[in-house]
Amino acid sequence: MNVFDAMKGRQSIRKFRKDPVPREQILRMVEAATWAPSAGNTQNVRFLVVEDPALLSRMKGIVDEILARVTGKEIPPGKINYHNLFAAAPAAVCVVGKPYESATDRQIREKDPERHRVRRYQVNAGLQSVASAITQFLLAAYSLGYGTCWMTGPLVAKPELESALSLRPPEELLAVVALGKPDSSPPKPPRKPPEEVTEFR
Ligand SMILES: Cc1cc2nc3c(=O)[nH]c(=O)nc-3n(C[C@H](O)[C@H](O)[C@H](O)COP(=O)(O)O)c2cc1C
Repeated sequence: MNVFDAMKGRQSIRKFRKDPVPREQILRMVEAATWAPSAGNTQNVRFLVVEDPALLSRMKGIVDEILARVTGKEIPPGKINYHNLFAAAPAAVCVVGKPYESATDRQIREKDPERHRVRRYQVNAGLQSVASAITQFLLAAYSLGYGTCWMTGPLVAKPELESALSLRPPEELLAVVALGKPDSSPPKPPRKPPEEVTEFR
């Protein structure tokens, strides 16, 4: 598939068929993700693929519980929403990243803590690297006939999910990608025209 067709055709899928996704297909998506650029070629991303229905259900329970606590609204059991829809997919790909620190960052950490803080938390080259890998994963999944939904909604329960997945610092959970054969074709959300988001100087 042409890369432009993949970029324009991909859309977030929020309802999936039950069919499992073959592991060799998932590895092809991960391979596409590994070819993404990363700051200093740090390749600071890992994909933890959750297929076990019991673990998916536990993760959904955690997200529902924390969401109910922070919003003060009970989540009806079995209700699929923006935060927990990954649990109704045959696979939830948990995207795990590590912070990135360049040699320059190490030098300015002590000499200029404020500049270091901005680079670490606002520029966040590590997070940008992980995002580029996720994008390539999504495009590969689409070109192989799979639907995805890139999700940060579940990370309302970030520490609790990290603990359920036995993740240890410096690794952290940064996103969850719901993955499976699409069971719906929602309307494609429109985009801004390129002229509106481009400035030449
Ligand atoms: C960083 C990020 C976080 C997102 N989190 C969620 C989420 O938690 N739940 C969800 O249903 N969609 C989520 N989305 C999907 C967006 O809503 C979607 O990409 C956007 O509306 C454009 O639609 P499209 O992906 O179909 O083109 C997220 C997308 C990104 C890039």
